[in-house]
Amino acid sequence: MNKPIRKAVLPVAGLGTRFLPATKAVPKEMLTIVDRPVLQHVVDEAREAGIEHFVFVTGRNKAVIEDHFDMSYELEDTLTRRGKRKEYEALMADLPAAGAMSFTRQQAPLGLGHAVWCAREIIGDEPFAVLLPDMITMAGRSNNRCLAQCLEAYDRHGGNIIAVEEVLPEETHQYGIVAVGADHGSSFEITGMVEKPKQGTAPSNLIISGRYILQPEIFGILERVEKGAGGEIQLTDGMVQLSKSQAFHGVRFDGRTYDCGSKLGFLTANIAFALDRPDLAPALRAEIEKLVG
Ligand code: G1P
Repeated sequence: MNKPIRKAVLPVAGLGTRFLPATKAVPKEMLTIVDRPVLQHVVDEAREAGIEHFVFVTGRNKAVIEDHFDMSYELEDTLTRRGKRKEYEALMADLPAAGAMSFTRQQAPLGLGHAVWCAREIIGDEPFAVLLPDMITMAGRSNNRCLAQCLEAYDRHGGNIIAVEEVLPEETHQYGIVAVGADHGSSFEITGMVEKPKQGTAPSNLIISGRYILQPEIFGILERVEKGAGGEIQLTDGMVQLSKSQAFHGVRFDGRTYDCGSKLGFLTANIAFALDRPDLAPALRAEIEKLVG
C-alpha cells in the first residue's frame, strides 16, 4: 500500500525577471489568468487532487501571497452588508482551512532543488507533490487535471512520478528531459533524466512539465547535490541520484500546460481559460474575430 500524498510544495521564490516591469512589486505568481491569480489556479488543481497541506517556499516581496490565502475581514464584511452573497460565497469556497498552509523562505535564489529542500522540515518523512507555479494546466478529455493524473499513476506504480509532455526537438535545451524505458502507454518507466541538455543531445523530446510526486529520501540527496545547469542546485540532478535506488515513472498526461512565466504562454492561458468560461466565451470569441479577422 502506497503512503497517501497529503502535502504539496510550491516553490514561489522566483524573481519573475522575464516579466518586468509587471513583476517589480507584484509577485509573478499573482498575475491574473482571467480573474484568478496564476497561483490560485495551481492551488485549485492541487485541491482537486486531494492535497490537504500546502507548503509555499517564498522570498522577500512575496508577502501578498500569504494575504491572498487569508481572510479579508473588511472585504467580507462589505460584501455581506451589500448583499453580494455570490461573491462572498466564492471567496469562502477558495479560503483554505486554518492551518492548511505553511510558508517558509528560501533566503537566496540557489535553484529549484534548493527551494524544494527548504520544505524538508514541514514535509517530514512522507511522500509529497511538487507543483511549479509557472505552469498552469487544463484538463483534457478525462476532466482530471495534471496532478490528479499523476496521483492515479502513483496508485499504480508507487515510487516517484513526473508529468511530462512533448515539445519540438529544438526546444528541449530549455527544460529537464526524461529518457523512456518500458512503456505502458499513458505512463512509462523513466531510465534517465537530464536538466537543460545541449542542443541535439536530449534523450527524448519529453519535458519535465512541472508536476511531481517525490519520496522524502530526495531531501537527504538535495542537501548534498552539487550545482548543475545555470550554476543552480537542480531538482533534476537530485532525482537522477534518487533514481539509482527508487523507481521513477513518467505520465503523459491528458490535457494542456501553459507556461505563465513566458509572455506568450501567459497571454495564451488568459485566452484559453476565458474561452472555457461560459460567461465570457461568446463575447470574447467575437472580439478575437474582430482583432484577427
Ligand atoms: C524547471 C525544471 C525543469 C522543467 C521546467 C518546467 O526549469 O528545472 O526540469 O522542465 O522547470 O518549466 P526552469 O523553468 O526553472 O528553468
